[in-house]
Amino acid sequence: MADITPTITLRGGLEIPRVGLGTWPMDDADSERAVLSAIEAGYRLFDTAENYKNEAGVGRGMRASGVPREQLFVTTKFNREWHGEDLVREAFERSAERLGVEYIDLLLIHWPNPEQDRYVDAWRGMIRLRDAGLVRAIGVSNFKPAHLERLRTEVGEMPALNQVQLNPFITQAATREYDAAHGIVTESWAPISKGHERLMEQPVIAGLAERYGKTPAQIVLRWHLELGLVTIPKSGNPQRMRENLDVFDFALTPAEVAEITGLDGGTGAPADSDKFGH
Ligand SMILES: NC(=O)c1ccc[n+]([C@@H]2O[C@H](COP(=O)([O-])OP(=O)(O)OC[C@H]3O[C@@H](n4cnc5c(N)ncnc54)[C@H](OP(=O)(O)O)[C@@H]3O)[C@@H](O)[C@H]2O)c1
Repeated sequence: MADITPTITLRGGLEIPRVGLGTWPMDDADSERAVLSAIEAGYRLFDTAENYKNEAGVGRGMRASGVPREQLFVTTKFNREWHGEDLVREAFERSAERLGVEYIDLLLIHWPNPEQDRYVDAWRGMIRLRDAGLVRAIGVSNFKPAHLERLRTEVGEMPALNQVQLNPFITQAATREYDAAHGIVTESWAPISKGHERLMEQPVIAGLAERYGKTPAQIVLRWHLELGLVTIPKSGNPQRMRENLDVFDFALTPAEVAEITGLDGGTGAPADSDKFGH
């Protein structure tokens, strides 16, 4: 296992680890334990949200590790009620207090909630938070190219990162293409499709696992890396945490990557961010 997780540089210069720990749906106590175990296993990136109600546990796990704050990277996200140029400051303050941190590494708009039509205002407020040094990088989650286009044309600054549901069944080709063209790093949530056997037992995944002496989850996580993505598999189990981080000592060929991408049935993300959000 690599001592230090390889990173990608976000717009603005901040480095983000390629693999981090997802924390939904763990509560405070489980998150605290999981973050501490993950740090011991070598993780430095943690993904939480106001909506997960576990920011306090994530922060406690970070502190309990004894690893200096500046060596850890925490992402959090805020709900729709904070979509407003001034409101995002309060969202930041509440999350920072729950986490017990002075600054947040990466703050995301959790869902665009287009029917509310205030994500552009929220984005303006986030730029102010970043310029004030309260957050080191700013981004969005579950944004489609049409939502990102409004940030580009109405504000003129693009997010550093877009976190979307992405795995071999939901490959998000249009969003990945748009993000790449605009210097936005794409981050995958539900990267192993929640560990479901339907993905793990696909012949292409099982065959590659056999060929490389890796587990099916490791093959899928390596596919994310080959596509240039950042990924945040969730596990509360220390052995699976180590497994999910141990993906930097082999590579898939372009043909193998294409074969895995071919598992996409074209259904798209089940939660449509034009209709669903919180
Ligand atoms: N932005 C958003 O709207 C949004 C939405 C949902 C989630 N997220 C974030 O994305 C993170 C990841 O997504 P997710 O948790 O939905 O799905 P996921 O990471 O694809 O899958 C997690 C599930 O897979 C199991 N698992 C973990 N490692 C495994 C392995 N090596 N082999 C087999 N099974 C394994 C886990 O069980 P164990 O814990 O027992 O290992 C858990 O049940 C979340 O935790 C959250 O931080 C973001």
